[in-house]
Amino acid sequence: MPRYLMLRSPSANRVYAGESGPLTAAELQLTAPFASEVADAELAGVSYLGFDAPALSDANLETVARQSACFALFEAEGELLRPVALPQPFTLDDDLITIPKYPGKTNEQFTQLLVNVTLSAVTREPTGPRQILDPLAGRGTTLSTALLLGHDGFGVEGDAKAFEQMVSYYKTYLRRKRIKHTADVTPVRREGKAIGKRFDAEISTDDARHRVTAFTGDTRQSAELFGKKRFDAIITDAPYGVAHGSTTDVRGVSGKRDRSPAGLLREALPVWAGQLMHGGALGLSWNTFGLSREDLAQMLADAGLRVREGDAWERFAHRVDSSIRRDLIVAVKP
Ligand SMILES: C[S@@+](CC[C@H](N)C(=O)[O-])C[C@H]1O[C@@H](n2cnc3c(N)ncnc32)[C@H](O)[C@@H]1O
Repeated sequence: MPRYLMLRSPSANRVYAGESGPLTAAELQLTAPFASEVADAELAGVSYLGFDAPALSDANLETVARQSACFALFEAEGELLRPVALPQPFTLDDDLITIPKYPGKTNEQFTQLLVNVTLSAVTREPTGPRQILDPLAGRGTTLSTALLLGHDGFGVEGDAKAFEQMVSYYKTYLRRKRIKHTADVTPVRREGKAIGKRFDAEISTDDARHRVTAFTGDTRQSAELFGKKRFDAIITDAPYGVAHGSTTDVRGVSGKRDRSPAGLLREALPVWAGQLMHGGALGLSWNTFGLSREDLAQMLADAGLRVREGDAWERFAHRVDSSIRRDLIVAVKP
C-alpha cells in the first residue's frame, strides 16, 4: 500500500506552540478513515505527517486537501518523494479568514480543525450544504471557515461591536473582491420593540450559493432568534474566562465577567442541543483551566448528547498561552 507524507503548513507549529503534531495526526485519523499507520516522519530534517492509504480517489484527495494544516502531499518512494497534486479545498480565497486580526480571534487553522473534526461525527446524510451554527460567533471565524468549506454559516454574538465589525468586514471584503452577493442588516423586533440586529448575506460563486446569517443577542436566546431552524453542526470556541484585552469574554450568569465559562455553558448547552438535528454534532473548544473535561462531558450528557470518547477524540489538548490550555470535545445528538 502506498505511503503518503503530508507537509504541514509552516504556521502550524507557531499556532500551537510546537504541539501541532499530535493534533493534526488526531484530525487525520478521525476525518480520513482510509488512512492507516498515521505517524510523524522525518526526512532530511523536515517533519511530515505520514500515513498509508490505497491509491487516493478524488474524494480522498479532497479530504487530505482540507486537513487544517495541509500544505503539500507527497507519495514516498523509498527515500524519494513524488508530489501529489491536491484539489483546491476552498470555495473562496482563504484570505477571507486570514485578513482579520483582532484580540480574542480564534486561530483560523484551529477553527478549521474544529470544523473538520466536528463534521466527521455528524451521522445524518447531507441534503445540501451543511448548516453550521456558531452560537458564540465573535467576528465570524467559524462562519467564514464554514463558507470556505462550502457550507452555510449562522451565528449569535453578544458583543454588538464585534457584530458590527464582522458585518463591515464582510461587506467590504465581498465588494472589494467583486464577489456576487447581497448583504443586509435588519432590526430584530419583539412586540414592536427593537431587541437587536440581524445580518444576512448570500454569496454566489461559479458553482454554488452560500449563506451567512448572524444575530446580536445572548446565546441562551439562540433558539428564539432562529425559531424552527435546525443545524447539522454547532461549532464554537467558548470564551476562555480570561480577559483578551477586550469585552469579548464570558457574558455569564453573574451579569459580570465570569472567570470560567461553566455557568454560561450549563445554561446554553440545553438550548443548543435543542437546535441540533438528530444525527447532528456539537463541537466545542474551551479552556480546561476553568472547566474539566469530565464536568463538561457531564453537562453535554445532561443535555441529551452522546460524547465521543477515547483514542483520537481525546488527543486535542494543547497549550495556547500561560493562562489557556485549550481542548475540544465533540458530542452527537442521537
Ligand atoms: C472565544 S470568543 C469567539 C471568537 C470567534 N471564534 C472569533 O474568532 O471571532 C467567544 C465569544 O463569545 C461571546 N460571548 C460570551 N458570552 C456570550 C453570551 N452570553 N452570549 C453571546 N455571546 C457571548 C464573546 O463576546 C466572544 O465574542
